[in-house]
Amino acid sequence: MTNPAFEIQLLKEIHFDEVIALQREAFPPPFDETLLWSQSDLATHIGLFPEAQWVAIAENKIVGSCSNTLISEANYQRHSDWEATVGGYQIKTFDPNGTTLYGLDISVACAYRNQGIGRAFYECRKKLVIDRQLKRYATGCRLPDFSTSGFENVFEFLELVHMGRKSDRTLSPLLKYDLRIIGAHTNYMEDIESNNCAALLEWEPTLDEQKQNELMRGKLVP
Ligand SMILES: CC(C)(COP(=O)(O)OP(=O)(O)OC[C@H]1O[C@@H](n2cnc3c(N)ncnc32)[C@H](O)[C@@H]1OP(=O)(O)O)[C@@H](O)C(=O)NCCC(=O)NCCS
Repeated sequence: MTNPAFEIQLLKEIHFDEVIALQREAFPPPFDETLLWSQSDLATHIGLFPEAQWVAIAENKIVGSCSNTLISEANYQRHSDWEATVGGYQIKTFDPNGTTLYGLDISVACAYRNQGIGRAFYECRKKLVIDRQLKRYATGCRLPDFSTSGFENVFEFLELVHMGRKSDRTLSPLLKYDLRIIGAHTNYMEDIESNNCAALLEWEPTLDEQKQNELMRGKLVP
């Protein structure tokens, strides 16, 4: 039995080895291991956008990691594939004035799943969107149970997962975080289990959340 207590911290260089090991565990074959982060990728992420790279620590070890980039409105609105949207592992499309916090990765160690670590990372993502007054959080979500679902059409699969009549081990938890499915990409990235497809997901702060933030910053009189 594992201890459910965990803490979210900013990613630092001392965490890199453990984060890479965690990625191997969270994305096992047939996922292509050459697609996982390298030390140099993680160093680039914390160099460009340090406040949006997190780890979860429990029992003195890394049990979760979460990487993000910031992209421009025009880039986001193209809803292109992973490579074009984020600019590859070195996040070459990072835009410090971007409007969209874009999720690159979220991984939780198998023994620590279902204890709210994924949800805690999503709370960090949403808080960053509100604090930086961004338009939204968005991501392309892999669909590892699509290829064995018996469905050929990804939209049919998405509809059933959305209705809770089918489960997908990645999309189902993410839908619990109030993310909205805005579409699907049929050639998002090389991912055999997902038939290379991804669900395009979005979260926007409510007007209340934006107003609350402006009040806190003294920009609005209550
Ligand atoms: C997706 C992932 C990050 C979720 O992390 P987690 O810490 O286990 O998720 P949480 O504990 O926050 O669970 C959130 C909710 O989803 C539910 N859930 C978790 N796994 C589920 C599954 N396989 N099927 C259906 N629901 C699931 C939980 O019961 C919980 O529901 P609740 O809020 O009503 O209690 C984790 O499973 C993972 O690392 N997967 C492998 C890597 C991956 O695919 N990353 C995403 C790349 S796009």
